[in-house]
Amino acid sequence: MRIGIFDSGVGGLTIYQAVRSALPSASFAYCSDNEFHPYGTKSDEAVANRTLDVCARFVAAARPDLLVVACNTASTVALALLRSRLSLPVVGVVPAIKPAAAKSATGVIGLLATPVTIRRQYVEELIQQFAGHCHVVRAGSSRLVELAEEKARGGDIAVAAIHAEIAPLFVEYPQVGKNLRLDTIVLGCTHFPLLLDELRAAAPWPVQWIDSGNAIASRVSQLIQESGSRLPASAPDGDSIAWVTRMDPAASLLAPMMRRFGFNSMRQLP
Ligand code: DGL
Repeated sequence: MRIGIFDSGVGGLTIYQAVRSALPSASFAYCSDNEFHPYGTKSDEAVANRTLDVCARFVAAARPDLLVVACNTASTVALALLRSRLSLPVVGVVPAIKPAAAKSATGVIGLLATPVTIRRQYVEELIQQFAGHCHVVRAGSSRLVELAEEKARGGDIAVAAIHAEIAPLFVEYPQVGKNLRLDTIVLGCTHFPLLLDELRAAAPWPVQWIDSGNAIASRVSQLIQESGSRLPASAPDGDSIAWVTRMDPAASLLAPMMRRFGFNSMRQLP
């Protein structure tokens, strides 16, 4: 059983981590579309077409049994299309609005995601369905995506840079109620959990940070169980491959981090 994890960059590693701890004996392949990155500033049509193209090439090269689209930006526009075109189960990622609404005590929730994700109709529907009783405030940031990529390449990240991106969420909301402050933030972009330490340090007051990793790991485990597939008793020997769409010097700088995550070999996707 091989699980393919796709993202526009390194963000999907946060989903991979959760899936891998739930299914430690599965084998994994990773794909980063570093050539077209970032997705969060591009049109829906461009992201949908590109996701379809790269996922088809990834599936052909890596032959996974199941594909996780570990990117909120791609999932919210391309999931239906991918499922109709690819002949393997496809799991997508959406912002964890539901668990956040259940966990918030004040009912004031922040959604931190890419600029296109926060505007998506799909996200609006999630909020209406699961967080109707909450006040959801949104902040779109592509800078945080870049900072996460920078960190993955070994760069130092200034807490002040993170603070500038999240500060708009940490204000008073007198329309909601006196002294009711934001207490929960949904990390609606898979890159953002890579910056969790910096986000915690930059937050003006402590909040709960909720990502989608565990929900995706449960969904993948459930699908594998339903399919009757049996996982081997231990993880397979040999290379887990991380595919990139462009092998360039910036991609090579990611190699040490990829190795830490268990991807010993990096190749350019044909
Ligand atoms: N990791 C992606 C997500 O979850 C987006 C990053 C990008 O803008 O490419 O939305």
